[in-house]
Amino acid sequence: MTFPVTRLRRLRYNGIIRDMVSETQLSRNDLIMPLFAIYGKNVKNPIKSMPGNYQLSIDLLVEECKKVVDAGVKSVLLFGIPEKKDESGLIACSTDSIVQRAITAIKKEIKDINIIADVCNCEYTTHGHCGTIIDNDVHNDLTVETLAKQSLTFAQVGADIIAPSDMMDGRVGAIRSILDENKFEKIPIMSYSAKYASGFYGPFREAAESAPKFGNRNTYQMNPSNSDEAMREIELDIAEGADIVMVKPALSYLDVIYRAKHEFNIPVAAYNVSGEFSMVKATAQKDWIDGARVMMEILTSIKRAGSDIIITYHAVEAANLLNK
Ligand code: PBG
Repeated sequence: MTFPVTRLRRLRYNGIIRDMVSETQLSRNDLIMPLFAIYGKNVKNPIKSMPGNYQLSIDLLVEECKKVVDAGVKSVLLFGIPEKKDESGLIACSTDSIVQRAITAIKKEIKDINIIADVCNCEYTTHGHCGTIIDNDVHNDLTVETLAKQSLTFAQVGADIIAPSDMMDGRVGAIRSILDENKFEKIPIMSYSAKYASGFYGPFREAAESAPKFGNRNTYQMNPSNSDEAMREIELDIAEGADIVMVKPALSYLDVIYRAKHEFNIPVAAYNVSGEFSMVKATAQKDWIDGARVMMEILTSIKRAGSDIIITYHAVEAANLLNK
């Protein structure tokens, strides 16, 4: 049937009908809020390139988590800034390390919260790379060992989900094994499966103090040109035991999210990363766009592309709008 019998505008004239035929629903259940833990008491360091985000000492982080949960966001993703760094990130492999302490404190105070622990070494190494350096490059298998250790300590302090973001080969399998050997077989792994070597991580590296001191991450993170390779990464992670797979960043990779959802029957997460967040904030501050409207449009597009879960620094703001 064509015009004039078919008029697609008929379903757009009335807001209730528009909602009725809306194909994508954003929900607070889908959102994960990233937070940054730092040593000290009563510390709230603004992250300049990410307006509204802070490095928080554990006392304030617990308070922030209460606010996040009150807004209806039930999941947080934790990163840490350690007191000291070392060559291999061993500083992060103890139940007394910064994020492990934060998890212990949050779990003590808040019941219904889902804590996701980001597993990586870049915040904890002197050189800022995601693993142990041998011959000027991150050594895959040695790094996998530290990642597995770090993961186990997260499970021991009560993390609900383990999320490796390093892009080493074989790390999902190694983490699954160490968790299972230690009776943590119930803890899911959300793998950063298709993580690209992206310019959009700039503000995060200020937040986590994790910029590489030499070179770049091109030998472990993916080339932005590739999507077939992303499917191979996802397939391998699923084979190694990933329960949720992630595509990161989100906006320049909506096609990868779409393929991931359609080619694999598994929950897909997308990381709406720091640079994507900061672009919205910076342009909104100049009054060049309506920040809240663009935020909701972006989050809806990530969901529409096929993502079940969205990690975003907009989580609380978006939840507050959804609550209205
Ligand atoms: C750690 C890690 C990074 C991000 C999440 N985990 C940074 C990186 O790879 O340099 C980026 C998140 C963001 O930009 O919001 N490997």
